Amino acid sequence: MPAISASAPGKAILVGEHAVVYRRPAIAVPVTQIQAKASVFADIRGKPGEVWIEAPSIHLATHLSQLPPIHPIAHLSRLLLAELGLARFPALHLKVTSTIPIAAGLGSGAAVSVATLRALSAFVGHPLPDESVSALAFEQEKLFHGTPSGIDNTVITYAQPIFFVREQPFELLHVAAPFTLVIGDTGVRSSTAVAVGAVRERWQADAPAYEAIFDRIGAVAVQARAAIETGRLLDLGRLMDQNHALLQQIDVSSPELDRLVAAARQAGAWGAKLSGAGLGGNMIALVDPQQADRVAAALQAAGAVRTWLTQVASRPGLDRASSDR
Ligand code: PMV
Repeated sequence: MPAISASAPGKAILVGEHAVVYRRPAIAVPVTQIQAKASVFADIRGKPGEVWIEAPSIHLATHLSQLPPIHPIAHLSRLLLAELGLARFPALHLKVTSTIPIAAGLGSGAAVSVATLRALSAFVGHPLPDESVSALAFEQEKLFHGTPSGIDNTVITYAQPIFFVREQPFELLHVAAPFTLVIGDTGVRSSTAVAVGAVRERWQADAPAYEAIFDRIGAVAVQARAAIETGRLLDLGRLMDQNHALLQQIDVSSPELDRLVAAARQAGAWGAKLSGAGLGGNMIALVDPQQADRVAAALQAAGAVRTWLTQVASRPGLDRASSDR
């Protein structure tokens, strides 16, 4: 039996990705049916500092001391030890598992960080408050994503829909009418750092044009917030469509994403867009719950390798599983 375990959900960015790096507002929601989980077991025979790590989804089974310092788990461990003022962990086994696809815009890295920080800190008797968990997960994101906005670690730590502006306190969103998203995975893995770096290069080459697009994306996020807080879901769908068109303009969509977005709309979605860094990864569609299965089937017919249904409400826990193919 695990001595201590903790989990953290995946996430989807509803509106505002990329522009959020440039300080425009964005909205993100937890996707609780995909999860990262960390379990910590005491190793009663081990010596202090002997940490065995197992992460089957990345084929990792090794001692912490054998990992290169730049390895994500080694880096995260150092961040946590420094935060707790400890020189080493007691002898332990750490097992990390995740059902969140990697490099797909669903927050797998941040969720692994949050679950691991919670489980390890609780195991050593100093469970970290959410604020510290989010701050350390943000430090970790910086190592791998270059200039993260902080939206991923925040929505995943608090597991609630959030309205987020970089370097400002986030706000929990009131969801007046719970709504249903279908998430479609293109199956094309994409690196957030590459996508964010490419946008930065184009922004440097033509700052006025990019700033104008970011302003429009920010305005979409503000209007989307109002739509969510008043339960105007058709308006929210329209805003998601607008956001996708703006993301196309900054060249972070892809033929696969555009195909899935078009298929979702044709199948009756109220709106659809890519979600996350783009160039692959996932798209989301806002749907009438009665139409969700139909939209999911259309996405699969259009090439989605997986779909999920998730319901967004002010409190999580209302998800139901969809198909895996
Ligand atoms: O990690 P992803 O793929 O969901 O992308 C994060 C969203 C971006 O706005 C593209 C980057 C960021 O740090 O906010």
